[in-house]
Amino acid sequence: MEIQGQIAVVTGAASGIGRATATALAREGADLVLADVNDDRLEEVRKGITALGCRGVAVHTDVSKLQDVRNLFDRSIGELGRVDILMNNAGVHLVGPAEKISIADWEWIVGINLWGVVYGVSVFLPHMLQRGTGHIVNTASMSGLIGAESSIPYVATKFAVVGMSECLAAYLKPKGIGVTVLCPGFVATNIVERERLVPFGDGFDDSRKAFLEAVKQGDWSRFNVLPGGVISPEQVAEKVVHAIKGNVFLVYTHPGHKEAVVQKAQDPEAAIDVLAALHVAWDSVFRAPTAGLRDTGGGADASAGV
Ligand SMILES: NC(=O)c1ccc[n+]([C@@H]2O[C@H](COP(=O)([O-])OP(=O)(O)OC[C@H]3O[C@@H](n4cnc5c(N)ncnc54)[C@H](O)[C@@H]3O)[C@@H](O)[C@H]2O)c1
Repeated sequence: MEIQGQIAVVTGAASGIGRATATALAREGADLVLADVNDDRLEEVRKGITALGCRGVAVHTDVSKLQDVRNLFDRSIGELGRVDILMNNAGVHLVGPAEKISIADWEWIVGINLWGVVYGVSVFLPHMLQRGTGHIVNTASMSGLIGAESSIPYVATKFAVVGMSECLAAYLKPKGIGVTVLCPGFVATNIVERERLVPFGDGFDDSRKAFLEAVKQGDWSRFNVLPGGVISPEQVAEKVVHAIKGNVFLVYTHPGHKEAVVQKAQDPEAAIDVLAALHVAWDSVFRAPTAGLRDTGGGADASAGV
């Protein structure tokens, strides 16, 4: 789909990948409806987009609330007339041991990362079907293709988004609607600001806290030990624009990720051992920057992303 002249709705547009993609779409000539819970940042993004000469509408939206997503749709149609592109991107992260994660924490993350996507698709898809055109981008993660032992609820939501997107892509292809699932590795965004950390009670807690503090100060350098390192949201946005234009289904962001998925499919038992080793490996990454996953004897390719 050509982007010039299209109307795009992006959730989680106030920051990170959503912000960069909304801006990239505006540069390509789209008009934008920007949705987020962070009104101040959302307004900044809106101003940036209108400065590029595009129309930009900011709509306070909590994607975990159906009523908010319905309102987002109504405002989009009311102010810009139609929706061509929907990016279900808002998301949050949670780290903790399976037995200690509360039901409230599960509901929080599933509400945003999965129900947010479900609401987006349910509310906007009938409009796209009626028009026989459109493109949906769902932001999942490499954690939607390969697990991460410290982020079970996050992984659960992202695997669900990948599965849902795969089926939607097949179902909607003959109806003229494209679907992209975005599976990033580590991207330097603000996702850590809202991360919930449930203590494991071992060395992992301190190293995770050290990591959070470092990245809150903008220091992502320790990730340089990982394959592909950390990339910018703008690099991801470029790939999303390319995928919408070319109707690409699955978007990887880092070298080696596709190969890691193939490797996991070929040897699922070994993949479990690699994941188990990661819990310990984190410590070496975030306590001693010179020793990284690459040096721990395997698992590097599976250390996929948030
Ligand atoms: N940063 C990474 O390394 C990484 C890797 C893989 C996948 N992702 C995914 O990318 C997406 C975007 O995250 P990001 O890294 O840009 O983080 P970010 O925190 O910079 O941006 C996410 C935005 O979503 C918004 N948001 C949070 N809860 C919301 C809600 N209930 N309703 C509406 N908006 C809400 C936040 O206010 C924020 O502006 C997420 O789905 C995340 O899981 C990120």
